[in-house]
Amino acid sequence: MLDHKILYNSIEISADYGRRDYIEAPEQAILEKLSGWLPAARMLDMGVGGGRTTKYFAPLAKQYVGADYASSMIDICRVKYPKDYAFVECDVRDMACFQPESFDFVLFSYNGLDSFSHQDRLCALREIGRVLSPGGYFAFSSHNLNWSRLPDLFRLKGPKPSEAGGLAGIHYYMRQGLKNMRLSMLNKSLFMGSLIEKLKQDERGTLYDDSLNGKVCLYYITCREQARQLAQSGFTDLSFFGKNGKETSCPGALDRSPWIYYLCRKG
Ligand SMILES: C[S@@+](CC[C@H](N)C(=O)[O-])C[C@H]1O[C@@H](n2cnc3c(N)ncnc32)[C@H](O)[C@@H]1O
Repeated sequence: MLDHKILYNSIEISADYGRRDYIEAPEQAILEKLSGWLPAARMLDMGVGGGRTTKYFAPLAKQYVGADYASSMIDICRVKYPKDYAFVECDVRDMACFQPESFDFVLFSYNGLDSFSHQDRLCALREIGRVLSPGGYFAFSSHNLNWSRLPDLFRLKGPKPSEAGGLAGIHYYMRQGLKNMRLSMLNKSLFMGSLIEKLKQDERGTLYDDSLNGKVCLYYITCREQARQLAQSGFTDLSFFGKNGKETSCPGALDRSPWIYYLCRKG
């Protein structure tokens, strides 16, 4: 299977990220929550991709640096924003290029933190803590292992009415069947429902879920385990946001959200 970095560096995927310029509802909620404070903040937009979030956050911050380990993403950002902001090629797991406490706000949006192993995730959390100033904010999103519809990703779905009949219908079911078989093989499990239940007991784990065309596996985590990891890495004042942008302190309310956005502070 391919490394995430190779995929993110591909012309097709980096160009796709470069075209995106919307803001997700929870990012908007976090932006509003921090709006009074951002003008005094030095911000690091880690895993900035094609600069989707730059347009919204950078003009509000005192200083803005976008960083990504994929050079093609950084090239796109530099073309999109030739002045005012800095874009740096850097891996979140080793940010030796930044001094301790260089930033007051680190954003790692759109599940970039789910691209690597458990050990690397803990290492990334340590590095983020190191480059943040005391009391600085950290916001990120992650795949929700308790998402109620997660098992549906691996089930045979019915076709659209336009694809339902005749040969088109047969092709549809063959494609779906092959995709599900491929995911089962990659996940080394014929019974994906049981595998998800097992991961839920562990509160974290990796899955091939057909993201990035099924070429890579992604880290999934429960909200409770994420809270523990953050506490162990020295973060406090944790709040959660569902994909609809609603803030909640009740993890159960997030079961309908495929991703969870977390906002916390360096203790
Ligand atoms: C899903 S994309 C999101 C891009 C952008 N934040 C957005 O929301 O459009 C994840 C990004 O994280 C970057 N990334 C993944 N692992 C990384 C790492 N270890 N260090 C730095 N960047 C990383 C990828 O290159 C990619 O650009």
